[in-house]
Amino acid sequence: MPTRRHFLQSAAAALPLSAAQTTRSANDRIQIATIGLGGMGTGDTQSSLANGAKLVAVADIYQGRLTRARESFGNDVAITRDYREVLARKDVDAVIISTPDHWHARIATEAMQAGKDVYVEKPMVQKLDDGLPLAEVAKATGRILQVGSQRVSSVVYKKAQMLLESGAIGELNMVEAWWDRNSAIGAWQYSIPTDATPENIDWDRFIGAAPKRAFEPTRLFRWRNYQDYGTGVAGDLFVHLFSGMHFITGAIGPERVYATGGLRYWKDGRDVPDVMLGVYDYPSRGKMPAFNLALRVNFVNGAGETSGFRFVGSEGIMTVDNGVTVSKQPRESEPGYTVDQFPKAVQDQYLKEYYAKYPRQNPTADAMRPANQEKYLPPPGYSDHMDHHRNFLEAVRSRKPVTEDALFGIRAAGPALLSNMSIFNKRPYNWNPEAVKIAG
Ligand SMILES: NC(=O)c1ccc[n+]([C@@H]2O[C@H](COP(=O)([O-])OP(=O)(O)OC[C@H]3O[C@@H](n4cnc5c(N)ncnc54)[C@H](O)[C@@H]3O)[C@@H](O)[C@H]2O)c1
Repeated sequence: MPTRRHFLQSAAAALPLSAAQTTRSANDRIQIATIGLGGMGTGDTQSSLANGAKLVAVADIYQGRLTRARESFGNDVAITRDYREVLARKDVDAVIISTPDHWHARIATEAMQAGKDVYVEKPMVQKLDDGLPLAEVAKATGRILQVGSQRVSSVVYKKAQMLLESGAIGELNMVEAWWDRNSAIGAWQYSIPTDATPENIDWDRFIGAAPKRAFEPTRLFRWRNYQDYGTGVAGDLFVHLFSGMHFITGAIGPERVYATGGLRYWKDGRDVPDVMLGVYDYPSRGKMPAFNLALRVNFVNGAGETSGFRFVGSEGIMTVDNGVTVSKQPRESEPGYTVDQFPKAVQDQYLKEYYAKYPRQNPTADAMRPANQEKYLPPPGYSDHMDHHRNFLEAVRSRKPVTEDALFGIRAAGPALLSNMSIFNKRPYNWNPEAVKIAG
């Protein structure tokens, strides 16, 4: 593994001086800061630390999260309500951005311009138009940008990719994926802290570029429920399904997007659907034939939480959930017939011709065809999230590409955000996945 000095030198070679100067610290550990230390920011920080990084600072607009930062990670951690103070620190090599979605693009842009490598949570951007410019900033500044859909680093998804590539289910023709839930927390009704006061929250910095609003803690602590800050079920959950599916198939996006659904049950003031269906046409690409994708999220699934993928192929079905299962039931070797409603004479003639072509045979053991199911499971305790952070930190050292760069990120976020546009504008959209733009 290269030394810190080595990685800083090679990083410096690719950077303007001001940016290179900021990636500096006294020891060989990568020093990180987390911006937005809620549920996922805490998980991201823990995975990063477990991979050897050191946390030096945390920014969050709610004082309670800053108090919690020191309870969880020690009193040496610098804390601030203003993320720009984190970006100005010279001892921060990389930042984790785990704020609500409407801040991702802006903070990621400013972070890279300040010379920081970036791990930004999914969806990479809240607004479609912010995707390509963010990829441009990553390119122009030479900074590493990893998007936080951890499935692309998963050994389970790698196994699925290898099985599909090896022809385990024949030729792919469609993919179904779903994420169903049936609980208040599953439907984003997160707890509102008892100290959610204007004194403890920098409300204006939460709102950012979203429409101005009077103080209303529910909108902060349940931000996913509002289009102003989140991206609905599509940006929250479809995007994981797109990322995983793109990784497994090598696809880069659909040509056509249509989504429908509605708010069926969780009528708590939210302005996004709790049941959503999307259908997508994927063009052929390389060895992969054209196929169709159907996605579903249902927060009112009376039977509880399930999530998974079915890759349907000409020779079998591959299911991906906590592992990969390949199921096969070969087609019959003869086509069979449906002649009962033909006139008797026609039936007789048909069957005579049929059995001339497919002579009657007594069943034999040798003629039995295998119908089988093979399941592949990751080792116990396996965490794709750990692998995703390891991949990021290795890239910070080596300056080699990450598994989920900005282009991958926008190719997953793009069709998810288009699904929202489709449901709200009640129309399908054509998409150019190569150019990452709405088409026609
Ligand atoms: N990869 C995954 O599996 C996964 C899972 C959950 C969430 N996420 C993503 O992580 C992000 C955060 O989600 P969450 O569930 O942790 O939300 P959360 O509400 O628990 O945490 C968000 C935090 O950001 C803070 N914040 C808001 N505006 C800020 C600002 N301008 N500057 C600094 N801090 C700010 C909030 O106070 C809060 O502490 C979202 O983009 C979400 O889509 C990813």
